[in-house]
Amino acid sequence: MQVLVLNGVNLDQLARRDPKVYGGISLNELETRIYEWAQELALTVRCRKTNSEGEYIDWIHDAADDASGLIVNPGAWSHYSYAIHDALELITVPIVEVHLSNIEEREEWRRHSVISDVVSHRVIGKGPDGYREALEYLARSK
Ligand code: DQA
Repeated sequence: MQVLVLNGVNLDQLARRDPKVYGGISLNELETRIYEWAQELALTVRCRKTNSEGEYIDWIHDAADDASGLIVNPGAWSHYSYAIHDALELITVPIVEVHLSNIEEREEWRRHSVISDVVSHRVIGKGPDGYREALEYLARSK
């Protein structure tokens, strides 16, 4: 199974963001853990990150042909990007939405995700381990 992990806007700055909210881990460390977990679960994974919404959407389009499972954390785009919603709507393989922080217990504007209705599963507020849970979900749905 070829899993694509797409981290979006500001996630490259993870190590500099509030450690109480995001755990103080860097994106590199997070990606290293993701690759290790994927190996344990016998999944092939590719992690990508971008601060460009257009690029993120292009990668979702590519995933329609290349991936058999998708893990997305679009960062703040999750709360307002109907363009990402519409791109994800074209994907027929399972999609897991991950948020490191518990967006449902933060500011009002973060509580709503515009992509939640086009994903198969959501993992929220579990920190880096949320990505492991997402991989396990995809491994089960093989
Ligand atoms: C986030 C939550 C978003 O509200 C925020 O804008 C992010 C990260 C998370 O992983 O908790 O950049 O998606």
